[in-house]
Amino acid sequence: MLEIFYNRRSTRKFLDKRIEEAKIKKLLTAALLSPSSMGSRPWEFIIVDDPALLSVLATSKPHGALLLKHATLAIIIAGDKTKSDVWIEDCSIASIFVQLEAEALGLGSCWVQINRRYYNDDITSNEYIHEHFNIPERLEVLSVIGIGYKAAQRPPLSDCDVLWNKVSKNRYQDQTSFEIPKECEE
Ligand SMILES: Cc1cc2nc3c(=O)[nH]c(=O)nc-3n(C[C@H](O)[C@H](O)[C@H](O)COP(=O)(O)O)c2cc1C
Repeated sequence: MLEIFYNRRSTRKFLDKRIEEAKIKKLLTAALLSPSSMGSRPWEFIIVDDPALLSVLATSKPHGALLLKHATLAIIIAGDKTKSDVWIEDCSIASIFVQLEAEALGLGSCWVQINRRYYNDDITSNEYIHEHFNIPERLEVLSVIGIGYKAAQRPPLSDCDVLWNKVSKNRYQDQTSFEIPKECEE
């Protein structure tokens, strides 16, 4: 499991290679198995592979969404706010489950944030996506995960990325036995 965690890096450049249906099914299986508060399962998922619709998603906000234009697949992750007051948490967990399963399947992915982002001064990214994808009012889009075969392999995270100074034992900032390796210190 940790190997997947070290290797998962955000992928924003993808090969022009289709993702097998069996892999798409596994990505959605991971999402549908994710835990949710009180087991309410407030999430719903829209898989998008139509290039014209991927281009629409890529313009859902001015910055940070363009990668979706070149992704082979995008998964829109939306939560039913009438089913759960913590739909954001539930959809976040589903989002990362999809990303980790993508890595396990040899695919790259990137989270594109939609909740609290804006298409322009007047329209939220959520409203923009609702408009183009016939999404009902009760659902709020949290994220869109762009997925595809990696065009380049990014270096994995290293032990220097494991910031042990963020961990306390018992009381805040009481020391733990875990240390940042010497070679990571500047
Ligand atoms: C909540 C969240 C929102 C993110 N939103 C975006 C985004 O809108 N566009 C983007 O390109 N990357 C986005 N990312 C990816 C982060 O930029 C990336 O995870 C971070 O820079 C660390 O890099 P790594 O994923 O390669 O380890 C998001 C990640 C998270 C967890």
